Amino acid sequence: MANTTTETPVDFRDASQPIEVRLAFLLAALTVEEKLSLCAGKNFWQTKPVTRLGIKPFKMTDGPRGVAFHSSWKRCTAFPSGIAQAASWDESLMERFGEALADECKSVGAQTILAPAINITRTPLNGRTFEYLSEDPLLNARLTVPMVKGVQQQGVAACVKHFAVNNQETNRIRVSSEVSERALQEIYLPAFKAAVEEADAWSIMAAYNAVNGVAACENSSLLQDILRDGYGFRGFVVSDWFAVRRTSSGAACVKSGLSLEMPGKGSKCKTKALSAEFSNGDFTEAELDDAICGLLRVMLLTGHLDGAADADHAQSENQGCRNTPEHQALSREMAEGGLTLLKNTQKLLPLNPEKHKKIALLGPKLKKKNCLPLWGGSAGVWPPYEVTPWQGLQAQNNNRFEWVKKPADADAVLLFVGLSHRFGQDSEGVDRKHLDLPEKQQQLIKQTLAVNPNTVVVLINGGPLAMPWVDDVPAVLECWYPGMEGGTAIAQVLFGDANPSGKLPVSFPKRLQDSPAHQSPRSYPGDREKVHYDEDIFVGYRHFDQQDIEPLFAFGHGLSYSQFEYSNLTLNGKSFAADDCLQVSMTLTNASERAGAEVVQLYIGDCDHGKERPPQSLKGFNKVYLDAGESKQVEFILPLEQLRIFSEEKLWHLKAGHYAVRLASSSRDIRLEQIVEITTEAQWEREACNAESC
Ligand code: BGC
Repeated sequence: MANTTTETPVDFRDASQPIEVRLAFLLAALTVEEKLSLCAGKNFWQTKPVTRLGIKPFKMTDGPRGVAFHSSWKRCTAFPSGIAQAASWDESLMERFGEALADECKSVGAQTILAPAINITRTPLNGRTFEYLSEDPLLNARLTVPMVKGVQQQGVAACVKHFAVNNQETNRIRVSSEVSERALQEIYLPAFKAAVEEADAWSIMAAYNAVNGVAACENSSLLQDILRDGYGFRGFVVSDWFAVRRTSSGAACVKSGLSLEMPGKGSKCKTKALSAEFSNGDFTEAELDDAICGLLRVMLLTGHLDGAADADHAQSENQGCRNTPEHQALSREMAEGGLTLLKNTQKLLPLNPEKHKKIALLGPKLKKKNCLPLWGGSAGVWPPYEVTPWQGLQAQNNNRFEWVKKPADADAVLLFVGLSHRFGQDSEGVDRKHLDLPEKQQQLIKQTLAVNPNTVVVLINGGPLAMPWVDDVPAVLECWYPGMEGGTAIAQVLFGDANPSGKLPVSFPKRLQDSPAHQSPRSYPGDREKVHYDEDIFVGYRHFDQQDIEPLFAFGHGLSYSQFEYSNLTLNGKSFAADDCLQVSMTLTNASERAGAEVVQLYIGDCDHGKERPPQSLKGFNKVYLDAGESKQVEFILPLEQLRIFSEEKLWHLKAGHYAVRLASSSRDIRLEQIVEITTEAQWEREACNAESC
């Protein structure tokens, strides 16, 4: 293979030139061999250098709840896990999280953070439910966008993963997700679309699984038609680690738009194998350029090629940009924002020292740490310290409460139960087998309740759980995996120094059979070849609503120590054309003596939904902070175009008809409603999704 260039132009390093000009110089400067060498990694976390041009290895690091030890050899801030982040329903917190994550990423010398992880929670058993955000495409998208922006504003690439339809760990490497185009467009892709279109995500990770028979890493329908042509993605697509092994050839990956195989020297995309395929005419240099130019562009955008990233790294090392008190405080704030009070009868919480002076602290999760290297898989982060619930309770007590050993002697019991990141519980690689807490813990709940009914069950776990004991327990606090400052946040909420404001980002079913993916073995777990998404768009609450099944706790549910009143729903009309904007406003009042936050949720009900459509969908939300007694106007502006739906025959279209505008405290707690009419129909083009595999 001959060098196409012998000169070494230096212009691509000139940061004063426009990126696209520098990119063109760079592409012209690289030989075919050098380009091919960029298609697979050098080792576990880096690309190969191009020494002749002074291009150093470009570094990536996990992951979605902090910079991971296994990819940085540094102990870094451990933030709450994905589902805990999502339970905050707080966009500005996600942006600040993104910024902090980027700082920590730079401080370990990496240019890409392998986060956020945004696959839809299709089954509560997915081992990675703790790592992902939500079952709802709108919540997923709205939280992803600020997080990606936060990361990239700091000059670090966010790598949004796993593209696409990677919703279970069982057979994850070989299974094909058999999914309709309607479910793809309405449920599984919107957050990726938003990440690219609204936040200009610089990187996407192609998933392990296949989608409709074609491995994600060589799926040109996904990577080319949808991602690049449809959404206008201009960054790089990296394979999930070792995912390329299950593809048919390196040439197929290159042609479909995969930029980089990770890790190591690659399997199908190693230079030798690709060179042979190139010489054979299996792909062209133009196709190669298309595949790698996104990687080169992101090298430029992150300052990797002009020394800016090195300077940033040196500076952030000097200034100690990881594990700062600010990042730790943010981790605590995020933990607090995500704590979700599921039940609180008799106002048992917050604990009141006048009524509940003597407290018994019990349970296997009281003193457990959850932030350890690779604990839970690639999302595991090892922070310099972790405040366990026990430590948090000691530190925040301030002599208000007295600890007693026996539950029978206590005025109230705090019982810490849940799961861990052990394989088969909340962990990458393996799904959970069932929804239950371990048998021993269920026994412990029963025994404790028998001697003291004032028992608060405090849950540390990463997703829906069955709670056959729930009717006997006065209070349940879901803490998720709350990160290195979790113990402090938990103590503050239990003692009333903080007011819980988390809301469920996923539905909690009463029984596994109530869940949409669990209607037959074909729909979960499928076999080694295929898993059929038979529930189609009826994922999460869309299914519970359509089938009229009562969930254990509904999507969007979460209590506060304050009481919020919803009033004065006002709309800008009753009858609209398809291209109008609906303006919704209401008054939210904190009718309590405690400052607190409420997530006001906007659902639009489809009054003529029939069997084909979900009865309602989330179309907006607003987390509102109110002082005691304070009222605020809450406003939503909804372009009616956002009510469009997808069908294989009609593509995207907006149906004329009646719609219910609902303002709600959860998907099952509708506080205000008015009916409007849309009088005209509208139709949109298919969004670049025309390939066989869709
Ligand atoms: C995971 C990715 C992760 C990668 C690198 C894979 O097992 O699926 O999410 O980024 O490993 O650790």
